[in-house]
Amino acid sequence: MYKFIDLFAGIGGFHLAFHRLGAECVFACEWDKHARKTYERNFKKMSPELFRKKKFYGDINSIKDIDTEISDFQILTAGFPCQPFSQAGFKKGFADTRGTLFFNIAEILRIKKPEAFFLENVRGLLNHNNGETFATIKKVIEEDLGYSFHWQIVRASDFGLPQLRPRLFMVGFKDKKIDFEFPTPIKTKMTMSDVWGGDCSRTIGFTLRCGGRGSRINDRRNWDAYLVDGKVKRLSPDEGKKMQGFPDNFVFPVSNVEAMKQLGNSVAVNAIQAVGAEIIKILDTSFNPTVQFNAHTSNISKMAVHARKLTPTPLH
Ligand SMILES: C[S@@+](CC[C@H](N)C(=O)[O-])C[C@H]1O[C@@H](n2cnc3c(N)ncnc32)[C@H](O)[C@@H]1O
Repeated sequence: MYKFIDLFAGIGGFHLAFHRLGAECVFACEWDKHARKTYERNFKKMSPELFRKKKFYGDINSIKDIDTEISDFQILTAGFPCQPFSQAGFKKGFADTRGTLFFNIAEILRIKKPEAFFLENVRGLLNHNNGETFATIKKVIEEDLGYSFHWQIVRASDFGLPQLRPRLFMVGFKDKKIDFEFPTPIKTKMTMSDVWGGDCSRTIGFTLRCGGRGSRINDRRNWDAYLVDGKVKRLSPDEGKKMQGFPDNFVFPVSNVEAMKQLGNSVAVNAIQAVGAEIIKILDTSFNPTVQFNAHTSNISKMAVHARKLTPTPLH
């Protein structure tokens, strides 16, 4: 069974996707107390060892010794906040990222050397600080850490969810010879009318956000008001969950305002799962090249086959 870690975990979009793919979460960190509450409530049953071993950390900077506090794992996942890097010396390497959350990720990669990583960020990271931030990340990963680096803008609507949500997905492998390709988008059948259970004027919804709710429906800033069966309706966590690929039995033990913020901060689970399935498939074939020819006999192959099934499963 592959092991993964869930950094800047939010409410666990990566956790859910990789759990569905048959992997086990062995370390997570999230410092926001409300997000922690939602995470714990939903994942304690699914990943009891994570909590029993006290591996759900708060601040990532509270890890004192990466090598001993994080047990070995194969896949690092993280949706990290975007911050500018220091320009000191214009070297734009590892040292220039010190003090940022990307540095924490890079340090874990350097020390633990997992097989693969999967990072997610807003599309704006590409031109943040005139492209310097992205160029530094790519350079640190490729040149300083020796991993491959593949990136693509992926939309939630590319993988079955009725929401645009373009996001920058970055994937890399320790074995640079691995030939990775992002999965081909599938046709989205689910619409906003399915989300609402009524006739909605839009097929694909607006990207969920963390704040700025409550604009008038015709305001250009509106993202949470919809015309459904001729009436204006505002998104609640129930619709938000469907638009992000969380199951109906996902629980929010926090206020609705907080739940909407958490959903706006999270990832489109189906898109993460589709890319995660490709990562696992490729690790399977590189660890065991016979997998693709011998799909019924090896346990690893069974996992690869399972990984390709993208049907959402209930949480518990
Ligand atoms: C973009 S969100 C990630 C959401 C997540 N991928 C999900 O599926 O919900 C980034 C998260 O990083 C957390 N964060 C920011 N700084 C942190 C730190 N120093 N240590 C731990 N978590 C931190 C924030 O609270 C936020 O929930």
